Amino acid sequence: MSTLRKLAQLRDASPVVLPSLLLCDFGNLEREVQELEAAGVHGYHLDVMDGHFVPNMSYGLPIVEAMRRLTDLPLDVHLMISEPSKYVQRFAEAGADILTIHAEAIEDPRPVLEEIRGLGVGVGLAINPATPVEKVEAVLSLCNLVLVMSVVPGFGGQAFDEVALAKLRTLRSQLPDETLLEVNGGVNEETISACGDAGAQLLVAGSAIFRKPNYALALTNLTRLAGAVS
Ligand code: DX5
Repeated sequence: MSTLRKLAQLRDASPVVLPSLLLCDFGNLEREVQELEAAGVHGYHLDVMDGHFVPNMSYGLPIVEAMRRLTDLPLDVHLMISEPSKYVQRFAEAGADILTIHAEAIEDPRPVLEEIRGLGVGVGLAINPATPVEKVEAVLSLCNLVLVMSVVPGFGGQAFDEVALAKLRTLRSQLPDETLLEVNGGVNEETISACGDAGAQLLVAGSAIFRKPNYALALTNLTRLAGAVS
């Protein structure tokens, strides 16, 4: 299925809760995928951390390749890395459907965003809590997805930063309908409704799923609270 078709499917299904693969059981990745797909997930958010742009190291190309073998669903790859231009082609080849870089990682994101578009995958741009929307306004038209971080990236299980809500509202009023709006960090049963109300279409959740005994129940509750009647 083409990337554009996958983006459209996410848009049509939204609001969509995407599991963030950081706190999952990597020793049983195939079983985790089977359980999540049985629970009705629409895609996966993959947290790539290089231990430099963020103070943590997670995983890279081999996990993206493994997920590509395990699922046909969209892979939303979040690059929390310092030099994304060095790696975007390899992540596209590994099977990413969306590649999201951070505005804080590079002086001018435009060339890398254009390179990602040239690779035929979805173009994503992320901003941290301290980064104002104004900083990226000039390149929003190049994006298929804009990610508003509601935590300083690097770890799961952090508290939600409400600064994200005003940014979501601002971006939703500025972006064309076909551009996906995503929120990530501290999204759980207490915070997800406000994110849905503020216009978020993709709602990334880690601990609110993987620290629960029943993934299906957690996903159903989060999806309902996000505003979608399951
Ligand atoms: C943090 C990551 C998030 C994180 C979300 O830097 O980008 O995807 O895993 O986990 P929770 O939902 O627990 O904040």
